[in-house]
Amino acid sequence: MTLRLIYASPTHSADLFYWGRIFTSDCFLAFEVEGQRYAIGNHLEIDELRRHSRFDRILLPEDLSPDRHPGTADLIQRICEKFPNHELLLPRDFPAYLVLELQGRGIQFSIADGEFLPERSLKFPEELIQIRRACSIIGHAFEAVCSILENSKIIDGFLHGDNGILTSEFLRSEIERICFSEGAIARETIVSCGADAAFPHNRGKGKLKANEFIVVDIFPRLVESGYYGDMTRTFLRGEPSKQQREMYDAVEAVQRWAIGEICAGKDGKDIHEGSVAMFKEMGYDTTHSTGFFHATGHGVGLDLHENPFIGERSHRLRSGEVITVEPGLYYPDRGGVRLEDVLLVREDGAEYLSNFSYDWVL
Ligand code: GLY
Ligand code: MN
Repeated sequence: MTLRLIYASPTHSADLFYWGRIFTSDCFLAFEVEGQRYAIGNHLEIDELRRHSRFDRILLPEDLSPDRHPGTADLIQRICEKFPNHELLLPRDFPAYLVLELQGRGIQFSIADGEFLPERSLKFPEELIQIRRACSIIGHAFEAVCSILENSKIIDGFLHGDNGILTSEFLRSEIERICFSEGAIARETIVSCGADAAFPHNRGKGKLKANEFIVVDIFPRLVESGYYGDMTRTFLRGEPSKQQREMYDAVEAVQRWAIGEICAGKDGKDIHEGSVAMFKEMGYDTTHSTGFFHATGHGVGLDLHENPFIGERSHRLRSGEVITVEPGLYYPDRGGVRLEDVLLVREDGAEYLSNFSYDWVL
């Protein structure tokens, strides 16, 4: 039998948070064996863990070791002695210094080959509620973005708001303020305009221009439950050119097609390859850094990017998985367009967990 063990802070380890449903800033040891989840808390955390976490058993270090101040490797050794004949399995991000200490003590272990908690991919109904909630907060932020852009004045090719020229930084701060006011923390929000939008993760900087694509990608995490939402819309204030309309329409068509393909049993690789092929048929070639050169989507939950990934690797979709579908086109001379929604995989199709209009010319 396997003994899965983590030493981390749940603020940084979605796996540990999944077990205990409690955030602590400090690292602690937790393990799962024979269907029971254990946490070993220090005297600062023990009360919180006992009162608010979902662990089955909460121990103090002295419950395992007679030493006054046992080290983490000592405790792991004690745990292994308590559960002999179990295979110790560690996550890939397990601290390297502890790996060396375990090796030094001759403790046998293996490192997870990929996901440590594969069960995280299949979402429970209460997890879907949280992801939907995160996406609805993004919708409120998009409403504000649209209103600011629609009400802006175009002066000398730049967008002006009530308090002067509009910038990526201003829109980002408005978006993140709205998310925070509704219980979610948004970081690294993307508001990229013009040439900046040709790079998918360029966060954007400086003055917003009329008649250029503005890619807005918002991915806040709910403060209480830890779940993410992840949506992207592309806007343009002013008059799009024929070339811009065609590029936007191509991305929208591919997104609609890819979402229509989702159902249990479908290989995500086929959806990804079909998306690339569809762009190519419409005249949008892809190189390593232009065209459509990222994955079509990714799982989303307690991590922003988690399994399954909808890209070049084969993965048969399963009912209950939550994925994004986010095709995009990026060319330095034209800027970029990306559209992203969050979908629940069902037996016979996809259900939107995100919801916002695709009106883009403002
Ligand atoms: N929305 C950010 C990303 O998926 O990369
Ligand atoms: Mn995404």
